[in-house]
Amino acid sequence: MTIYLDNAATSFPKPEEVYRAVDDYQRHVGAAAGRGGYRATRTAETLVDRARRNVARLFGTTPSRIIFTLNGTDSLNLALHGFLRAGDHVVATSLEHNSVLRPLAWLREHRGIAVSVVPVREDGRLSCDDIRREIVSSTRLICMTHASNVTGVVQPIAEVGEMCRQQGVRLLVDAAQTAGHLAIDLANLPIDMLACPGHKGLLGPLGTGVLFLSDEMDDLVEPVRLGGTGTHSEDEAPPLAAPTRYEAGNLNVPGLAGLAASVDWLLARDAGELHRHERALREELASNLSGIPGVTVFHADRPETVGVLSFEVNGYGPQEVAAILDENFDIACRAGFHCAPRVHQALGTFDRGGTVRFSVGPFSQPEHVHSAVDAVRQLAAG
Ligand SMILES: Cc1ncc(COP(=O)(O)O)c(C=O)c1O
Repeated sequence: MTIYLDNAATSFPKPEEVYRAVDDYQRHVGAAAGRGGYRATRTAETLVDRARRNVARLFGTTPSRIIFTLNGTDSLNLALHGFLRAGDHVVATSLEHNSVLRPLAWLREHRGIAVSVVPVREDGRLSCDDIRREIVSSTRLICMTHASNVTGVVQPIAEVGEMCRQQGVRLLVDAAQTAGHLAIDLANLPIDMLACPGHKGLLGPLGTGVLFLSDEMDDLVEPVRLGGTGTHSEDEAPPLAAPTRYEAGNLNVPGLAGLAASVDWLLARDAGELHRHERALREELASNLSGIPGVTVFHADRPETVGVLSFEVNGYGPQEVAAILDENFDIACRAGFHCAPRVHQALGTFDRGGTVRFSVGPFSQPEHVHSAVDAVRQLAAG
């Protein structure tokens, strides 16, 4: 059986209830949500509503603040393209994924947006003071990741959020590596926008994503995709109210049926316990891998992390390590830059092609981690 250690890319396996919910929708419902007067469309709509209510409950907010998208990248694009205007200045960080860096580079090139990138400190954390120092009179947005998808180190979003409120600047958080892994309470966090995939820690199917917009953001974020919504069809202007305003086109109902079930699964569990489980596995990986001669683990002993860990093996390129782990040991992991090139510049791994990444999930077990450590030990011994 394959040992799956690539949960930071997408979670696998999913809870059984997710497979059943998708299958049930595909076989027994099949209709588009909100696009007809017959029962099956109402059932589809009920499934979408349930997904929205569940995600809202998980994040401590109200359903109308939850917008469904295609993935984390789509959520970030909606937030960045919908909010930023010519002449705006944005502060991002060197921990960002290409789903932030590339839209910002494009907006700088084509829309006259100015961008500053704050470097991560040596300990793998961003400093709120460093971010504040980049704020100028035209700064409208800070965009930062909640946890690095390369090192797993958790970042100080609450502190940065408070600072943003004081400075009158909006905060967009990329929660791709924390949603579903850490408790996120949007009722008590000073965050204006939060983007995440539905298919990673939220345990839903691929093709699902979430964008949270606080109440005040409706007037500030323009829709970027326009079309049929199944409502106000007589009008050529898009609906004014969120979430429909941002969700033109048919929704991914099978995906959202799965997301409703996966978030039910999460809601029935203690978020702290899930996090402790993943943290313990990361610690086990970090301490054992660090003890292998020729293996370097990055930020092995940071106190606040999710279940993501990067390492390298002396004498082997990261892709080579991942290929050997796959072919000889049946271990699935990811190697390279993980779409976050600036993190590798900070770690000093850029010129060596990045790192090897292990990432655990709720179904990862200690024996998976032990097998992975044994495999790396054998590989490093040559
Ligand atoms: C930090 C971070 N942001 C954004 C994304 C993009 O998410 P998606 O793959 O759902 O588009 C990822 C996915 O790898 C990520 O790790």
